[in-house]
Amino acid sequence: MSNLTFAMIKPDAVGAGKTGHIIQRIIDNGFKIRGLRLLHMSRREAEGFYAVHKERGFFGELVEFMTSGPTVVLALEKENAVKAWRDLMGPTNSKEAPQGTIRGDFGTDIGCNAAHGSDSDENAAIEVAFFFSKSELV
Ligand code: RTP
Ligand code: MG
Repeated sequence: MSNLTFAMIKPDAVGAGKTGHIIQRIIDNGFKIRGLRLLHMSRREAEGFYAVHKERGFFGELVEFMTSGPTVVLALEKENAVKAWRDLMGPTNSKEAPQGTIRGDFGTDIGCNAAHGSDSDENAAIEVAFFFSKSELV
């Protein structure tokens, strides 16, 4: 089990001024921030990042959303980081996510759900490398 995961604060939450709240929760829950960057994803980057979903019906909508404004990308360290971050985010659909989870408190629905988290150690390594060079990680 790896201790590193990739997290993103999505454009809905950044646009709603929730970046600080979400980063505070990350810190309060014992994650160490190893990398942190604000960026506005290009269409090409969003399509590459979510390439696994390119055959899905919601792909166009997803790319549109992810390029609609700035996002904050993070590399997070904690024991069992992938699961720990997904637990803190809550389920994909913000309408079903409990209060106290990031998606429950800051997202709107299944598409606009405030945050992203890697789903495996393998993808965490790929996603961290997608947005961070070695020298950008502390
Ligand atoms: P993520 O990758 O963003 O952390 O989310 P996840 O693993 O919980 O969910 P995933 O199935 O990987 O879906 C990726 C993102 O696509 C959007 N989505 N829209 N309209 C829809 O039915 C639908 N389903 C998924 C969400 O933004 C989801 O986080
Ligand atoms: Mg996913």
